[in-house]
Amino acid sequence: MVKKEEINTIQYYSLKAVDGEKVKKLLRNTINALSEKEFSSEDGLTRFVTDVLDTRSLAELLIYVSQLPVFSEEFSQCLTYDLDILALMKKFKYYNNLPLSQILCLVQQLLEKNKAFNDTFDKSFSKLVKSSDENLKLKFKDFCNTEATKMSTGFLYKENQTSLETIDPHAVYPTSIYRHCNGLTLAAADSKTIEAVMSTSITTSIKITNKVLHPSNKTLINTYLPFGRCVAIIDDKVILHYGEELQKYFDHFGVEFVKLIHGGNEVDKDIKSVEKILVQLKQNGVSRNEPILIVGGGVISDIGGFATALYHRNTPYVMLCTSIVSGIDAGPSPRTCCDGFGFKNLYGAYHPPILTLTDRSFFKTLHEGWIRHGIAEIIKMAVVKDKSLFELIEKAGPRLIRTKFGTVGNTDAEFETLCDLIIGKAMEGYVRSEYGNLWETHQCRPHAYGHTWSPGYELPAGMLHGHAVATCMGYGAYLAKLENFITAEECSRILRLISTMELSLWHDIMDNHDLVAAANTKVIEKRGRFYVRKKVYCVLKHVVRTLHICKTDYKTT
Ligand SMILES: NC(=O)c1ccc[n+]([C@@H]2O[C@H](COP(=O)([O-])OP(=O)(O)OC[C@H]3O[C@@H](n4cnc5c(N)ncnc54)[C@H](O)[C@@H]3O)[C@@H](O)[C@H]2O)c1
Ligand SMILES: [Zn+2]
Repeated sequence: MVKKEEINTIQYYSLKAVDGEKVKKLLRNTINALSEKEFSSEDGLTRFVTDVLDTRSLAELLIYVSQLPVFSEEFSQCLTYDLDILALMKKFKYYNNLPLSQILCLVQQLLEKNKAFNDTFDKSFSKLVKSSDENLKLKFKDFCNTEATKMSTGFLYKENQTSLETIDPHAVYPTSIYRHCNGLTLAAADSKTIEAVMSTSITTSIKITNKVLHPSNKTLINTYLPFGRCVAIIDDKVILHYGEELQKYFDHFGVEFVKLIHGGNEVDKDIKSVEKILVQLKQNGVSRNEPILIVGGGVISDIGGFATALYHRNTPYVMLCTSIVSGIDAGPSPRTCCDGFGFKNLYGAYHPPILTLTDRSFFKTLHEGWIRHGIAEIIKMAVVKDKSLFELIEKAGPRLIRTKFGTVGNTDAEFETLCDLIIGKAMEGYVRSEYGNLWETHQCRPHAYGHTWSPGYELPAGMLHGHAVATCMGYGAYLAKLENFITAEECSRILRLISTMELSLWHDIMDNHDLVAAANTKVIEKRGRFYVRKKVYCVLKHVVRTLHICKTDYKTT
């Protein structure tokens, strides 16, 4: 046996332990100092940047945070009192490599968030942004190379730059500020045997917001201001309804808006569309760290997300969800993909957005059939994850469909609050289920409920995804009752809710035993026998027909 001391352990990084109290104290000092300071744009950008970054407490904060594992649980725990500040701090860690414009944007957000408004900062910054000074794109570390000697904190910044190369190179030379890697490597003394473990951490933010395209709402623009442009992959129907509003929004902030428009129907979800997007990204010279904006429903989020996963092997993207399916499921999902050879999601990659924005005001232009099929994904989450959500859907009933989630017709403030709650809970249920198993490294995924047999017949049936899911959920609930996993009463309650929300419980294609049997074989291969019982397809025929069946919106309308 090899003795322990003969093993070489290769450690990659030497990050500091998180001292939560210190982070909070440095934050308080920074906010106080910056809110009291007088700024001016009179002497140009370099002077303004120097004034801001030569604030001692800010320098101390940036340096300390850059040496911390900001994606760790300890770091998150010390800032749980405000998740927006937590998101800002995760970005500040990379200050060395951020363009000056982005650092200034982050400082402004920090002040705004703490209601520590500084008029002299805002006015000077906005004037300098309008001047389009090329130096705004300069990275802080390059700025520091020429300006450090003129700053009282310059030597601290320079010293940290060197230290970080061993403490955590991600902080000086990141490929992306949203991902980092770690590893543990053990090598035998003769170097003939190596055992290694590798890991990647990814950070993301999710917001349920209102009036996302109103100039007063900066949630979206904050990502694009530092880049001066936004390259967007947009659904062809969405552009008709919201193209003008999108253009106005970006114009308002002087950010160039490049539109790549693509069909968002299931037939468009193929490898050719993905390839077309890849070509367009290259033609527009998109760099590996420029976040793409994806605007649309489930199909656009799947193909757009997949293209960004492939482009430069990995390019960040922001998901602006315009439908229910994308808003609570496909949008924040890491599972990007396209169909192939008649199979759903044959090709794909795990690649979540860096930011997901859901705004139900987009739902007002959705066809009722699409509203219904979106609700199927919410019911899925409610049945397997959240009883209170189930009850909220029961309470809201088909009014959700008629008013398109409180955006048209017979709606009021109370109902709209209920709609927000339903969307919020569905999103939370989704993230709880998915984000601990991002790469689907295990198949204990109860939220795949409704997606067991339907992938085998959704495409040939031509059903909208949500209706296929609904038939599969009804079927799954019945089997669960047979197996005594749930009571007869619970089963009826699930079936009743699916039906009340005008979703299908049956399609004649489910009589095609070959198709269903093939789907069943695939499920067993993927998830193992534990999840699938033998009775599965022999009961199918007898069961579902005896139920209250709703046959609306089978086809894509
Ligand atoms: N990756 C995942 O985890 C995941 C999860 C759920 C669903 N999906 C996929 O999502 C797809 C279903 O999504 P979808 O795009 O068909 O359904 P959808 O409900 O997102 O969109 C329905 C239709 O509405 C259009 N549309 C979108 N927003 C609109 C708006 N605001 N106004 C008017 N029209 C709008 C779209 O072009 C589409 O034709 C399926 O392919 C499914 O496999 C993926
Ligand atoms: Zn689905």
